[in-house]
Amino acid sequence: MATEFIDVLPVDELNVNAVKIVDAGGKRILLANDEGDIRAVSAYCTHDGGDLDGEELDDHEVCCHRHGARFDLRSGEATRMPAVFGLVTFETKVEDGRIFVAV
Ligand code: FES
Repeated sequence: MATEFIDVLPVDELNVNAVKIVDAGGKRILLANDEGDIRAVSAYCTHDGGDLDGEELDDHEVCCHRHGARFDLRSGEATRMPAVFGLVTFETKVEDGRIFVAV
């Protein structure tokens, strides 16, 4: 089955080092502008389901406010306990000033 890219947001609504929650085909996605690179990962912490909405980027990583787990947005990898499993990552592209996420 071909990958489907979903139009989720105008690129100018995601400032550098900002994150935003979007819906992509029924999936809740954390979008991030990681120093100009648009990244998309699953929006819930793998430790205990903490919502990553409202978190901030720090050195390519997002931190879950509930117990302090960290995830590298480039790979989804969990980089700090108590999370062990990484976030799901999604391919992104920017076309005609809009962000698309592959789901
Ligand atoms: S729910 Fe995210 S660190 Fe526990």
